[in-house]
Amino acid sequence: MKARLVIIGYGAIAAELIARLRDKYGTDCTLAVLLRSNSASRAHLPVGVSCLTSVQDVLHFQPDLVVEAAGHQAVRDYAQACLIAGLSFVAVSVGAMADGRLYQQLCEAAEQGRAKLIFPSGAIGSLDYIRAVRDLPDTQIVYESRKPPSAWADELQRLGETQPIGHEVLLFDGHAREAALRYPQNLNVAASLALAGKGFDATRVRIVVDPDAKGNMHCVHATGAFGDMKLQIVNKPSPDNPKTSWVVGLSLMATVERYFSPVIFG
Ligand SMILES: NC(=O)c1ccc[n+]([C@@H]2O[C@H](COP(=O)([O-])OP(=O)(O)OC[C@H]3O[C@@H](n4cnc5c(N)ncnc54)[C@H](O)[C@@H]3O)[C@@H](O)[C@H]2O)c1
Repeated sequence: MKARLVIIGYGAIAAELIARLRDKYGTDCTLAVLLRSNSASRAHLPVGVSCLTSVQDVLHFQPDLVVEAAGHQAVRDYAQACLIAGLSFVAVSVGAMADGRLYQQLCEAAEQGRAKLIFPSGAIGSLDYIRAVRDLPDTQIVYESRKPPSAWADELQRLGETQPIGHEVLLFDGHAREAALRYPQNLNVAASLALAGKGFDATRVRIVVDPDAKGNMHCVHATGAFGDMKLQIVNKPSPDNPKTSWVVGLSLMATVERYFSPVIFG
């Protein structure tokens, strides 16, 4: 793979992606990172990776692909301009698409620029299956997030639950749009399933605080005329950064490789 890439952000996920790209493709991959001028991450960029500050810098760099790994605001700040300029844009912060107006704008920008807006599978799997069955009229898709109480300490305190809790707590049961807007940092997965599947208003989300959860657990259940699909994933944290699931950086790497590959799965 020979490519010029701009990566937005240099946190846990971007660092994993960049380390893997450099390790596997060396100087065949020319990399630049877009960061805000006051970002603390600037100090940690590896030697040989250019640092950019603005969309103008990105256009000037002439990348083959732009990859966001920075947060919802970064999608709002940069995706539209990149897409209109003809640069395909991978957005890992999928939850930003719960704002239907933004999603519509980005779809139009992609059409205008003849570019692609791409969502990686991130912390979840099964998006190919969900896409295949979504148009059958009776398809039902339920996503359940199960995390240990430590992941929801503030919410539990707000509910008056004293820790340690010995029972499950159902924090939320409703549609993906409300879930993604209410818990933006935690519901990128719900947003991915909604976009790949039946939309934000027809994807049910349950958020369960589970004292027995061994990690961040994602359960997807799809039922309909096609059959019955159940998926359960327990993601381990990144060995370098316990606050993020390791698989998200790996998923971005797979998405980048898929983009440039002559063979495509899914
Ligand atoms: N799709 C998924 O399954 C999934 C899973 C986990 C996280 N995510 C998304 O990935 C994002 C990044 O996660 P992380 O753990 O690497 O975060 P992090 O906090 O470790 O790093 C974020 C990086 O982005 C930079 N940044 C933040 N806002 C920016 C902006 N507006 N412009 C430019 N740079 C900006 C920060 O300086 C930092 O370098 C999360 O915010 C989340 O939205 C998605």
